[in-house]
Amino acid sequence: MPGAIHAEGLVKTFGDVRALDGVDLDVPTGTVLGLLGPNGAGKTTAVRVLTTLLQPDSGTAHVAGIDVLKRPNEVRRSIGLSGQFAAVDEYLTGRENLQMVGQLYQLSARVAKIRALELLERFHLADAADRPAKTYSGGMRRRLDLAAALVVSPPVMFMDEPTTGLDPRNRQQLWEVIEELVSGGTTLLLTTQYLEEADRLAHDICVIDHGKVIARGTSDQLKARTGGERVEVVVQDRDLLATATEVMTGFAKGEAKVERQMRRITVPVTGGAKLLAEVIRELDTRGIGIDDIGLRRPTLDDVFLSLTGHAAEEADSDEETPGGSGPDAATGTGTGTGTGNGNETEEAAR
Ligand SMILES: Nc1ncnc2c1ncn2[C@@H]1O[C@H](COP(=O)(O)OP(=O)(O)OP(=O)(O)O)[C@@H](O)[C@H]1O
Ligand SMILES: [Mg+2]
Repeated sequence: MPGAIHAEGLVKTFGDVRALDGVDLDVPTGTVLGLLGPNGAGKTTAVRVLTTLLQPDSGTAHVAGIDVLKRPNEVRRSIGLSGQFAAVDEYLTGRENLQMVGQLYQLSARVAKIRALELLERFHLADAADRPAKTYSGGMRRRLDLAAALVVSPPVMFMDEPTTGLDPRNRQQLWEVIEELVSGGTTLLLTTQYLEEADRLAHDICVIDHGKVIARGTSDQLKARTGGERVEVVVQDRDLLATATEVMTGFAKGEAKVERQMRRITVPVTGGAKLLAEVIRELDTRGIGIDDIGLRRPTLDDVFLSLTGHAAEEADSDEETPGGSGPDAATGTGTGTGTGNGNETEEAAR
């Protein structure tokens, strides 16, 4: 049975740009799909098509079982959208903005008022409730916009980069609100540039790049594919980078990433803290001084590097990925098709 959000073969071009290049999506009812991708990947375009704001060149989409292209008005009644750029009325206060949305959704004035107050408190805007939104900080506007998307509880929600621009505390609070929402049965499609966010919130993740789905899976599956943890070392002496890279490659389960300018080497590993101690010993034995060393989880950049062979931000031309360690790595984290993990992650090479 198709999910609450279901799309097949979506294509949307803007001149020469194929913003969506044959995207298939399926989000089972009551689950969260994280649509993960760098700037320009096509995330907002996908959200706009699915929320009836943009007509695709080809493909089909159903939301809450309703055909997005044939019955857009009905779809609009079943969804909530929080766009990438906050859509609040600058001249109304926070409270008025939320009450207005309630009334647009035909709540009675009394219910709209109660709902507005609840949301203002939940999003820590109660103190600023009666100030015009134009006096709000960026993070406050973002929160007001999200609150507006939650005035009524539609069965299907879309959030386009809901936490971009929020500080860590507000991000954390928003994650809690989203988790609550989903535990109440809402289906959510969320776009993000943060693997950590998709990791925390999404049941399934779709990684897109240049309008194409390049990988799908749960966050654990993607991380396994990306090689799990990383050891990151900053060496003191840039001249010893090559030697240090050689040492690190000996411990690696995939390709080393070298950022010459930063004097930093990052390699995917398994083995955690114990391995970290071994790396430190080996670097010491070879006389390589280190400024910093640590274990960290893969970032979106790491996912991209292992899925596409290029970093999420192409502008980081400072990076090199020396060969020699990738293809024979046991976990199959190199580029190409080997996942080493059965069909956990699906390569969508179309
Ligand atoms: N209305 C438009 N006219 C022309 N080009 C567009 C339009 N909308 C999107 N694009 C192009 O389509 C591609 C995908 O854009 P989109 O906004 O979907 O990316 P995104 O993944 O949301 O990126 P970001 O993380 O920066 O928000 C980009 O190359 C963008 O420049
Ligand atoms: Mg966008």
